Order: sequence, then structure tokens, then C-alpha cells
Amino acid sequence: MKKFDFIKDYFSDAKPELGIVLGSGLNNLLDSIDIEKTLSYADIPGFPQSTVPGHEGAFVLGKSDNVQILAAKGRFHFYEGYDLETVLSIMKSFNAVGIKKVIITNAAGLMDPDHEPGDILLIKDCIDMTTQASALKAGTTAIGDSERQMALKAADISNVKLGEGVYVWTTGPSYETPSEIKYFQSLGGDLVGMSTMPEIMWAREHEMEVYPFSCATNWAAGIASQPLTHEEVNETAQHVREDLTRYILTLCKLIGD
Ligand code: HPA
Repeated sequence: MKKFDFIKDYFSDAKPELGIVLGSGLNNLLDSIDIEKTLSYADIPGFPQSTVPGHEGAFVLGKSDNVQILAAKGRFHFYEGYDLETVLSIMKSFNAVGIKKVIITNAAGLMDPDHEPGDILLIKDCIDMTTQASALKAGTTAIGDSERQMALKAADISNVKLGEGVYVWTTGPSYETPSEIKYFQSLGGDLVGMSTMPEIMWAREHEMEVYPFSCATNWAAGIASQPLTHEEVNETAQHVREDLTRYILTLCKLIGD
């Protein structure tokens, strides 16, 4: 059986309305939803496996405020050696089970001095530094007008400060040089990361409602006068996680209403 048919079959008694991709360190959202069923990527014949330590791969079906959600814990990146087709496996799985609305999250480096690490930013557009996204032919911004309005409304209701920025997609796996960051800033970039853009563009191309967010976990290379300590990064991540969970759950409810 083909991998997407297998996933469709496994969740055939469910009708999830919303797919959520949980970026690095953002899995704690799952502590706040009622989990119904889990499918490990390892149990899906022919499905890719995450090679990033600590990225346990699984689909988790659950409910929050009566909205049925299918969350993907762990995604696939170029820097793991995967091709575009494989990187898109999560979106294609969502599509196979009939999901038309997706929330996509990631951890990203921050280049916009008007924000600070710990902030959540809505991704309003993307810049492709890998030259691979042209294959996706979307030709659109990362978010539509009505989705943006909904995202801003959820920020208001949940009392979370929500910024907006342009996400620069790099291949990785190494972080950038300070000169690269200056270059990305000169292009209009606010955030930098190694995931998400192909997922956004593929979902937009397939006429899904897309809600893309970055958690700014650190200043991008060369911006901070001294490197953050490990404790500070952990503290920041913890703070973002709590805000992001509250925010995402509010957004889920709005989307489901
Ligand atoms: N650069 C690229 N990807 C990232 C960063 C960064 O600074 N932080 C988190 N993901």
C-alpha cells in the first residue's frame, strides 16, 4: 500500500479539520489537547524518518475545543539530505486525509531589530535562498488576507504580541555568517530558517488555508553583541512555547468556529 493511502486508512474514522506542523521544541502543544490516536512515522511503510536527534516523528490526532486536529511532530529538511518531494511529506499526508487548513510553525533566527528573541511572528512572505522553491510555482505570498486577519484576531483574544515578518529559507545545516545575515536583511528578510517555505508554498498552491508562524529563538548571526548563553536560549524557548501554545489553541478555536 502507498504511504499516503496507509495514512488515510489509519485515520479513516476521523475527520480532522486542521493540520499543525510543530517546529523544533514546540511539541508541548500536545500536552493541551485530548489525544485520540497516534501514528509513528516509523510505522508507515515507505515514509521517511527524521534524522534530527530529539525529533521523534509521529502524527497525533486530537481535539481542542471540539476542533479535531492532526498534528505532525517532526518534519523533514533539506539538510538531512532529503529531496523536495520528501520534504513535502507532511503536507501531502495532510492533503491525503482531506485537511484544507494548516498551521505551520518553526523556530527561526531573528534579523529584524524591531523584535526580540521570544517573539512570535506571522510569516507574511518568504525569500528562497535555496533556489528550490521555484519548483513549487506558487507565486503567492505566504499568507492570504483573510487568514492574516484571523491570525491577528487570535493574537488580540489570547493577548499575545504577534509580529509579522519575511522568512528567508536557507538550506543549512550550518547557521549563517554575519555577512550573509546583512545580505538577507538588505533583501527585506526578518527571519531566517531551514524549513517551512516549501510547506507553505505547496499548501498555498493546493488552495489550503495557511497560517505560518516563526518563533524567534535567537538573534541571527552577528546581531547580538555577545552570544546568548544556553540558559538564556532555554528560558526564551520556554517562554515562547507557553505563549505559542495559548495562541495556537485560540487560533484553532477561531478556525473551527
Ligand atoms: N538560522 C537558521 N535557522 C535557524 C536559526 C538561525 O539563526 N535559529 C533557528 N533556526
